[in-house]
Amino acid sequence: MAANKKILVLPGDGIGPEVMGQVRRVVDWFARHRAVGFDLQEGLCGGAALDRHGVPLTDETMADAMNADAVLFGSVGGPKWDDLPFEKKPERGLLRLRKEMELFANLRPAVVFDPLVGASSLKPEIVRGLDILIIRELTGGVYFGEPRGIETLPDGTKRGFDTQVYTTPEIERVAAVAFDLAKKRRNKVTSVEKANVMHSGVLWRQTVAALHAAKFKDVELSHMYADNCAMQLVRWPKQFDVIVTDNLFGDMLSDCAAMLTGSLGMLPSASLGAPDATGRRKALYEPVHGSAPDIAGKGIANPLAELMSYSMMLRYSFDLAEDADLVDRAIGKVLADGVRTADIAEPGSTTVSTSQMGDAILGALDRLGR
Ligand code: IPM
Ligand code: MG
Repeated sequence: MAANKKILVLPGDGIGPEVMGQVRRVVDWFARHRAVGFDLQEGLCGGAALDRHGVPLTDETMADAMNADAVLFGSVGGPKWDDLPFEKKPERGLLRLRKEMELFANLRPAVVFDPLVGASSLKPEIVRGLDILIIRELTGGVYFGEPRGIETLPDGTKRGFDTQVYTTPEIERVAAVAFDLAKKRRNKVTSVEKANVMHSGVLWRQTVAALHAAKFKDVELSHMYADNCAMQLVRWPKQFDVIVTDNLFGDMLSDCAAMLTGSLGMLPSASLGAPDATGRRKALYEPVHGSAPDIAGKGIANPLAELMSYSMMLRYSFDLAEDADLVDRAIGKVLADGVRTADIAEPGSTTVSTSQMGDAILGALDRLGR
């Protein structure tokens, strides 16, 4: 059982603490009614850590993350910290966690709940039944490549530069995750890069193709340029099953895919490391939405992406598929009942606050799962 597994909770900034507050209520519900108990520890990350400690993530919190069985993350950043030097920005806290925990595989499922078909900006027939999984490489590429910086040229003008770089092992390990997961789904992988203009893209395509030929011939593989993929995602997203792509393209394409589901407030994610000798993977779970400073503090944020991130944690870190299913069914039930936060509101639905959405979820859990 999950008893005594350690979870580090990092609510972060903006709407992070608001949505996490509702998820904590659900975590308590599972401890009381399903004997799914965790040792929860809470820490600071991002602007919250900067304000208290002067850094976006302390070494102590980093160590806590390394020792935890899973990290449940909110969101970081906000206008208050926008003018800080690069290395102090709240986002560096999150990037440090991803890098030092070696969370190279970021799973971002985009699933359209049937009652929300009308909340998407696309036509119902385009998104109904949609279920795709974007796997974003998370510890390499232009996010971390060296050299990077801004330098002043002899004539006084400046030059900003970043490096896009991938090695074959980095590509292979994330592609293997994509092939493995596709086998449990519709058995189709689309590998996305810009092999028409980037050397790292050429290597990406060659490496994925070679791995496929060597180990995953039974999975259907196709290759696509990233710009075309963005277009195809809004043209006919149901052509995709699993998309595997690099750090930067994955960042952009997952925001795009999120909107297919009606709102950025509906997309969870799991970031996984390599399994150790015991099969355990380091893992961090976070919603794809950011800290949303424009609505922070108003109590109207949608807690469902954070809640689905908790559900992914139950599924991927603790093998509690039944309990994860229960969370997902409670969400489906509440949406079917027309309960909506403002971001997914539709004519005829009841618009509720963040905590009222939490109430509705707990009510649904009471009915479905005790
Ligand atoms: C995401 C976010 C982050 C990223 C930011 C907050 C650093 O946009 O997780 O998609 O760019 O990776
Ligand atoms: Mg992003």
